[in-house]
Amino acid sequence: MVIIALDFPNKEEVIGFLKKFDDEKLFVKVGMELFYACGPEIVKEIKAMGHNVFVDLKLHDIPNTVKGGMKSLAGLGADMVNVHAKGGIKMMQEAYSAFDGMDKKPLMIAVTELTSTSQEMLNNELLCNEKIENMVIHHALNAKKAGLDGVVCSPLEVEGIKKACGKEFITVTPGIRLKTNSLDDQVRVTTPLDARKIGTDYIVVGRPITKASDPVKAYKEIRKDFLGL
Ligand code: C5P
Repeated sequence: MVIIALDFPNKEEVIGFLKKFDDEKLFVKVGMELFYACGPEIVKEIKAMGHNVFVDLKLHDIPNTVKGGMKSLAGLGADMVNVHAKGGIKMMQEAYSAFDGMDKKPLMIAVTELTSTSQEMLNNELLCNEKIENMVIHHALNAKKAGLDGVVCSPLEVEGIKKACGKEFITVTPGIRLKTNSLDDQVRVTTPLDARKIGTDYIVVGRPITKASDPVKAYKEIRKDFLGL
């Protein structure tokens, strides 16, 4: 599945972008920029257009507060939500329990180490004397223990995570570019086809689609590369 990152500053641009796709049902990601600018209603509006929505707010607080936040998101009909694994197993369990009793629970995934965290930063600034790849696997295993469905990760981490947590444990990977695309500010990128070969379940793609002169064509090209259809 291809998830389109809707990194737009306002509702008008989002709705204008989505209308280009006519009846095509998409999986889109609403992140902090859009959510904080437009409020929760933006999720309901996109859902009403028939699309699936990943609400990417990366919750991280004490367990009770995160559970409350997740309950509020549950009311919006989100299809995928996320938390920071660094909040710990109890926090993730409480977050997941916010959806108890719901017929259709959203997928809940965890952020392990942010891809903006370097080895040097982890050791010297955050005073964690571990290898970053071990931290990623450790957090992924904690997310699994807490009953979560998967993690957001770099394509380079997929193999190790699947090995440690099992094939069914979902990986959602950004940093995707076709060979013809600009890298923008992404450093280590993977093509959709390579992401498929690596075995990731979802790819998150923003600018190669949102900034394309023909976004529908760009989306179809990326989907074809990833899914082969
Ligand atoms: O435009 P681009 O394809 O680079 O967008 C990627 C999306 O994935 C953005 O919304 C970005 O915030 C998100 N993301 C990322 N790297 C991470 C986590 C999230 O690029 N490690």
